[in-house]
Amino acid sequence: MIEVTNLHKSFNGEEILKGITTTFDRGKTNLIIGTSGSGKTVFLKCLLGLFTPEQGEICYDGNKYSELDEEEQRNLREKMGMVFQGSALFDSMTVEENIMFPLMMFTKQKKEEMLERVHEAITRVNLENANNKLPSEISGGMQKRVAIARAIVTRPKYLFCDEPNSGLDPRTAIVIDNLIKEITEEYDITTVINTHDMNSVMEIGEKIIFLKNGHLEWEGDKSQIFKTDNKAVTDFVYSSNLFKKVRDAQLKGL
Ligand SMILES: Nc1ncnc2c1ncn2[C@@H]1O[C@H](COP(=O)(O)OP(=O)(O)O)[C@@H](O)[C@H]1O
Ligand SMILES: [Mg+2]
Repeated sequence: MIEVTNLHKSFNGEEILKGITTTFDRGKTNLIIGTSGSGKTVFLKCLLGLFTPEQGEICYDGNKYSELDEEEQRNLREKMGMVFQGSALFDSMTVEENIMFPLMMFTKQKKEEMLERVHEAITRVNLENANNKLPSEISGGMQKRVAIARAIVTRPKYLFCDEPNSGLDPRTAIVIDNLIKEITEEYDITTVINTHDMNSVMEIGEKIIFLKNGHLEWEGDKSQIFKTDNKAVTDFVYSSNLFKKVRDAQLKGL
C-alpha cells in the first residue's frame, strides 16, 4: 500500500502538483487519469522517487520516504518496477537481454539464476518464442510485453506504468491492460497506472483518481465514474464520442 499525503511539486516556481492526498492499495490496479498536462507523469515520477516533492509525504507499506536513509531509499527503489511510455527498450539488445538488464544492474545473481528469472518472466507474458529477437523485429504489443517482463523480473512490490497501452490498437491495448491486472493480482503488487484511455478505465479501473491541473479532483471506481456529476470528470469521460453516444442512447431509452 502506498499512502500519499499533501504532495506538492513545483518546477521553476510553477506548482505542478498542488497538495495531493490519496492511497493506492496492494493487489489492485490503481489508475491515475486526467487530460494531458494534468500532472500524471510528474506524480508517477514522485512515486518512483525520481522527483523530490517540496512538501508532503509518500509512505510505502509503512515506510515514510523522507525518513529513509540513502541505502534504505535505494533498497526501496529496487522493489519498484516501471513500464515507461513507449516501452523504452534497448534497440540493440535482444528480448532476453532487455529483460535481464535490471537483474544485471541491481543484483549479484549468477548467470543461471538470472536466466531462470528471465525465462519465468518471459513465460508469464507469453513471449516464449521471441527470446532472441530484437525489439524492431516484434510488434508493438509484443514490445509492451517485453517492457512488462522487464519491470516484473526483479519481483517488485510496486509497479508503475505510464500510459502502458499508448500507440496500441484497441484490442491489443485491452490485452495489455488485462495482463497488468492479472500480474498485479497474482504477485500481490501495488500497481499505479497513468492513462487517458477510457477503455482502460472500463477494463481495469479498480481505483481511479482523477487529476485536474495538479489537484485531485475526484476519486472512485469504474462504476462510480459513470454516476458522478463532477463536470471535469464527465467532460473527460464523454470526450470520447462512443461513450457520449451510449449515454445519449440511454437517455432516449434506446
Ligand atoms: N521536468 C520538468 N520540468 C519542468 N516542467 C515540467 C517537467 N515535467 C513536467 N513538467 C510540466 O508539468 C506539467 C504536467 O506534466 P505531466 O505530468 O507530464 O502531465 P501528464 O502526464 O498528465 O500529461 C506540464 O505543464 C509540464 O510542462
Ligand atoms: Mg504523461
